[in-house]
Amino acid sequence: MRKELEGQVALVTGGSRGIGLAIANALAEGGARVAIVARDGERSRRAADELAGEGHAGFSCDVSDPGRVREVVAEVEETVGAVSTLVNNAGITRDNILLRLRDEDWDDVIAVNLTAAFHMTRAVVRGMMKRREGVILNITSVVGLMGNAGQSNYAASKAGLVGFTKSVARELATRNVRCNALAPGFIDTDMTTELSEDQVRGLQERIPLGRLGEPEDVAGVARFLAGPSARYITGQTLAVDGGMVM
Ligand code: NAI
Repeated sequence: MRKELEGQVALVTGGSRGIGLAIANALAEGGARVAIVARDGERSRRAADELAGEGHAGFSCDVSDPGRVREVVAEVEETVGAVSTLVNNAGITRDNILLRLRDEDWDDVIAVNLTAAFHMTRAVVRGMMKRREGVILNITSVVGLMGNAGQSNYAASKAGLVGFTKSVARELATRNVRCNALAPGFIDTDMTTELSEDQVRGLQERIPLGRLGEPEDVAGVARFLAGPSARYITGQTLAVDGGMVM
């Protein structure tokens, strides 16, 4: 039976672990060829080798380097194919209360979480517009919707992605390029392993479904948004958070 993403080429930034890897897996299971783009090229290649199906590849790229972003998109298009789905997933935290937040904590987080999404998107959309088909998924966060003490830099970057998503959706809709955002709640990955047991208990109390999410909880929704069942959805931010934000 034909899978719904067959013929698609998906580029997933930060796809070597955590939520990005789960999304890469889900898109591969849907039939897409996947390019995993992360800082550690060896790890990206190993992750790509383990995906279901054929034709995947891993690449090394620091997404905060605009020159390298342009190069890697060209490499992906040459070896895997023209990018039809872009997942801007790479993200970092540099948490601190506002008064202790250093300039570089602000700049690094904005560069990786927000500016890199702009550079990546700009590098792939020309082809999508020509082919009159494309999907862009930006991984934001419930923190971008609610705010969070100690994460003003991260929240600003993620809220920025929400505005970016809506604007790109409006700009490219006539070319059949859809752009949506996914806002995970608290998901069990390397990013959240530093939480203490007390913090996890406190969080669970605020999550109506009563548990932290798994990367696969987010990945299934990404597969849906990338596929034909979501063909009439654009400009949306979908929370995948066990009901934290309603
Ligand atoms: P993670 O720390 O496990 O993975 C982050 C990925 O981004 C890694 O593959 C890393 O190599 C890559 N990355 C970081 N900086 C990069 C750079 N400069 N260039 C290229 N790749 C880079 O984090 P996790 O939890 O999987 O997060 C993925 C996305 O989901 C992030 O955007 C994060 O902000 C977002 N998110 C995570 C939540 C969570 O609870 N884990 C909640 C809400 C959003």
